Amino acid sequence: METMECILTRRSIRHFAADKEVPEEIIRELMEAVRWAPSWANTQTWEVVVVKNPDLKQKLSDTTRVNRGTQAIIEASAVMVFCSRQGVSGARDGVYATAKGDWSMFDCALACQNFCLSAHNRGLGTVYIGRFQHQEVDTLLGLPQGIESVVMIPLGYPVKEAKAPSRKALNEFVHDEKFGYRYFTD
Ligand SMILES: Cc1cc2nc3c(=O)[nH]c(=O)nc-3n(C[C@H](O)[C@H](O)[C@H](O)COP(=O)(O)O)c2cc1C
Repeated sequence: METMECILTRRSIRHFAADKEVPEEIIRELMEAVRWAPSWANTQTWEVVVVKNPDLKQKLSDTTRVNRGTQAIIEASAVMVFCSRQGVSGARDGVYATAKGDWSMFDCALACQNFCLSAHNRGLGTVYIGRFQHQEVDTLLGLPQGIESVVMIPLGYPVKEAKAPSRKALNEFVHDEKFGYRYFTD
């Protein structure tokens, strides 16, 4: 699939075909896409836990409480829990180099989008699940000190196409030289 088409047609998918497993070689390909994401000083602070066990998926799903993506976690062939190692990205000799502090969440997001776009390229659906009880997930997955869950991404074969939520127009967020001056006029 051409890059722009892939970006424009990727949608959040919240329902997956039951019992349709994603082949291992595709999971490997998607993780290769994660592997090649850019990161602060190439620190690569992401860690990914692949969850297929139905009981564990149910427990992960429970941590979302009320969420549009709750069912997606259960229906997914696999749930990728993207985690990040704290205190490394954005830091030099243990001191953060910018006022933004830790950049691991930013790096993790780039890796996640590589994952989601590559999945879409293979006809697979994904959705970011960011609203859940992070500490509960950290405990369920046995994350060591210094590594925290960021986002869960259920992966599977979509049951139907999703409608695209509208987006801001370009002239609403692209500024010309100074904030508030439209770069695009249409
Ligand atoms: C950081 C982040 C967290 C998100 N968390 C959730 C979530 O908890 N539950 C959910 O159903 N969708 C979640 N989404 C999906 C967004 O709602 C979705 O991307 C947005 O509405 C645009 O739709 P689209 O992905 O189909 O273009 C999240 C997306 C991002 C980027």
